[in-house]
Amino acid sequence: MSVGRYGPLTARAYDLLSGEPVYVVGRRLAIPALGLRPGERVLDVGCGTGLNLSALMHDVGPTGLVVGLDRSAAMLGRAGRRRTRSHDGRLRLVEGDMTDPRALVEAAAGRAFDAVLFTYSLSLAPDPGPAWRAVRDVLRSGARVGVVDMARPTGNAAWASPLAQAACWLGGADIDAHPWTVVEPDLSGTRSWSRWGGHVRVCVGTWGG
Ligand SMILES: C[S@@+](CC[C@H](N)C(=O)[O-])C[C@H]1O[C@@H](n2cnc3c(N)ncnc32)[C@H](O)[C@@H]1O
Repeated sequence: MSVGRYGPLTARAYDLLSGEPVYVVGRRLAIPALGLRPGERVLDVGCGTGLNLSALMHDVGPTGLVVGLDRSAAMLGRAGRRRTRSHDGRLRLVEGDMTDPRALVEAAAGRAFDAVLFTYSLSLAPDPGPAWRAVRDVLRSGARVGVVDMARPTGNAAWASPLAQAACWLGGADIDAHPWTVVEPDLSGTRSWSRWGGHVRVCVGTWGG
């Protein structure tokens, strides 16, 4: 499967070069806001090297399930190695494209998810709309949805816009995609956060089904 930027070299360097000191704030806001409960099933779309996985597995506990979906085998390979260091939950990794309904059906394995999280992945879809609609089909009614993504920093942080654009370009993300705007109209009880001058955006709400 063609994965462009997210091949073996990127996968090896991703955790060092991904700007985690800046971007971790998105995970720290979104994951608790999902309100995961023990025994729930959560889908991490575009899970990459698995930076969300420990926290998600912790929250759903040993009776829950975390499924990481990514189209890059190399990124999933790194995520798999992270699994060996975390023992407090069940994890399944699925190689597939978020826009491909068959990959999502395989990820769900016959049972709808209680929650879904996209961190810095939906802005890589050529069009976030079809990706969101494909994912929606494997959520139960009342599932919680978290979208963490990027935009151009503004106000006092506008000076950092060229840096932010370079980071997005390197990662293959469209900084102007604003994918939360595609998801948000389908959610209720939405909460939103903006950090680093609006560069990191977080939106969490409930999918009505
Ligand atoms: C910037 S990384 C983010 C990884 C991880 N979510 C994180 O927060 O660190 C984007 C990830 O999305 C994956 N990705 C991009 N487009 C995808 C698609 N259409 N379907 C599945 N995964 C995709 C890439 O392979 C990559 O691992």
